[in-house]
Amino acid sequence: MQTNRRLILASRPTGIPGPENFNIDVREALLPDSGEVLLETICLSIDPAMRSWMRDGTGYQQGIPLGEVMRGGGIARILSSRAEGFSVGDLVQARLGWQTHPTLAARFLHKLDLNIGAVQDWIGPLGLSAVTAYFGLRHIGAMRPNDRVLVSAAAGGVGQMAVQIARIEGCRVAAIAGGQEKCAFVLNELGAEAVIDYKAESDLSAAIGRACPDGVDLYFDNVGGPTLDASLEHLRKEARVVLCGRISQTHSAQPYGIRNLARLSSVHGRMQAFLVFNYHERYDEARTWLAARLRDGSLQQKLHVLDGLEQAPVGLGMLFRGENTGKLVIRLSDWS
Ligand SMILES: NC(=O)c1ccc[n+]([C@@H]2O[C@H](COP(=O)([O-])OP(=O)(O)OC[C@H]3O[C@@H](n4cnc5c(N)ncnc54)[C@H](OP(=O)(O)O)[C@@H]3O)[C@@H](O)[C@H]2O)c1
Repeated sequence: MQTNRRLILASRPTGIPGPENFNIDVREALLPDSGEVLLETICLSIDPAMRSWMRDGTGYQQGIPLGEVMRGGGIARILSSRAEGFSVGDLVQARLGWQTHPTLAARFLHKLDLNIGAVQDWIGPLGLSAVTAYFGLRHIGAMRPNDRVLVSAAAGGVGQMAVQIARIEGCRVAAIAGGQEKCAFVLNELGAEAVIDYKAESDLSAAIGRACPDGVDLYFDNVGGPTLDASLEHLRKEARVVLCGRISQTHSAQPYGIRNLARLSSVHGRMQAFLVFNYHERYDEARTWLAARLRDGSLQQKLHVLDGLEQAPVGLGMLFRGENTGKLVIRLSDWS
């Protein structure tokens, strides 16, 4: 009999979440019913949005009730199947939850095509962070060659993909990241033309001005708050601002009031938020593009890997302290 270790949401965090908000529960894994499969989790994606799911009530998704397994997506191997079209050994992507051996209905699974990428690719450069950057830049940001693009949280999961996609599409990319090591990564490995270490700058707007002397056509915002405000000051005519995330505001008692909105009027610009899940019917389009760039070597994704289910809450906290470089992933079993 297979056991299933699960991380249960035990309390709602008031600040940065951590292990203290979870209990471990060990129970027998459920045998699959008709139309279901028993899975072994290989890896879990850790995303800032999970912090909002730990709240009570509704955000863009319903909060997770206390006492339930933590929600989260990842990749798993089928151990036993009672679902047509799904065989033992198949690899699938699904909302697995933070557990080692979930039993799920097959209709919620997406089978991985290993011809276009290995497991690490499907959680990395073909995963949802990459797909987010793709639709954010191309669809919401209407990116064009030669655009001057600025990306914040540029060394993170979404940010590193946004920098590279924009560069591959012929844009001039400047980036914002925290600390020397991340800035070197963005400049030397991702190919940004300029980088700003916001943690070392007392005047962020001036620093953006130096990094983007001709201004910004497209700002891909992962951070919100004062970083968004400072970026607005540098918008060029008909600039686009893509509101991907606002991680700097997650734990602030008072939301930061944006002061430079008038700049959007002056430049006839626009600012739009989006949610990657709304593009689910078009994920294949993004993945076809990303897989081709992965094959020709123009795209890479750095993974920040932690081993073991118990590391999932630790990893979630790391996102809000800027302790990850690259896409944060929890590895539960061998993915080679
Ligand atoms: N719209 C969508 O559908 C969608 C989908 C996925 C993700 N997102 C959003 O995209 C953003 C990036 O997500 P990710 O998964 O790729 O995470 P990530 O960038 O890998 O990790 C978060 C990074 O944010 C930066 N950060 C944390 N606190 C900050 C603060 N107070 N001020 C400035 N920067 C801070 C840190 O980088 P530094 O050390 O460089 O500061 C940290 O490493 C998040 O805002 C997330 O909510 C949106």
